[in-house]
Amino acid sequence: MKNGPRLLRSRSVFPVPVLNDPCPTLPRPHPADIPGPVLAHLFDSARLFHHIRGLCNGNYYRPVEDLLDIRPGDRILDVGCGTGEGSVMAIPGVEYVGIDTDPGYIEYATRLYGRPGVTFQHADIHQVQGKFTKAVVMCTLHHLSDGEVRDLGARLRELVSGDVAVADPDPVASRPLQRFILSRDRGKYVRPIPEDLRLLEGSYRCRSVLTKNLPRLRLAKLTYSLCEPRA
Ligand SMILES: C[S@@+](CC[C@H](N)C(=O)[O-])C[C@H]1O[C@@H](n2cnc3c(N)ncnc32)[C@H](O)[C@@H]1O
Repeated sequence: MKNGPRLLRSRSVFPVPVLNDPCPTLPRPHPADIPGPVLAHLFDSARLFHHIRGLCNGNYYRPVEDLLDIRPGDRILDVGCGTGEGSVMAIPGVEYVGIDTDPGYIEYATRLYGRPGVTFQHADIHQVQGKFTKAVVMCTLHHLSDGEVRDLGARLRELVSGDVAVADPDPVASRPLQRFILSRDRGKYVRPIPEDLRLLEGSYRCRSVLTKNLPRLRLAKLTYSLCEPRA
């Protein structure tokens, strides 16, 4: 299969397909241009993120299943899918597509969770094709500037016919120690949740429905919001 999907060795019994990179225009340094130790570090980062996230925070996608009322026939887009934990939403009859701008995360997610009905793409929201019934943006808004969040809302409105669930660390509801931890986050745009939602208001009518500690180590409070498309 010359142009078909590559097969990577996985920990499971069966090899899983890895998509040909659908997003060749995103900057992706050639491995030969990256010094050895840096390369090793980059390759490790998805695994580190996955394990540290899992140990400290568990899987906080669960409430989204109820929030979006996911049911067979849905086609779900996960923006900023990281290492793919959102694929837990792909119950039988549901199709899940996770996108992320970090190619290492996408490769890792594909190896870990890729299966029929669950695919991951190295892509930014403006490069995604297709139609979806629902979407989730989990812990990703705080990586985006105000303008990028507004653009994301407009683009989601084009791609997704139904509701969008948004969840992000909540600096106001968080306790002081949690706020300190948030101030060290990689994301540079940790905002009060109402500010996040205001940025999406041009495209969606949003309301917060649930605030809870991240599971396990409770490193921050997370607020889940539901955004309904404006007519
Ligand atoms: C804190 S992680 C959250 C990952 C996943 N949603 C989770 O909760 O486990 C934020 C993710 O957003 C991705 N990201 C940042 N900017 C993005 C963009 N413009 N489009 C898509 N993904 C982006 C990062 O690469 C990272 O994987």
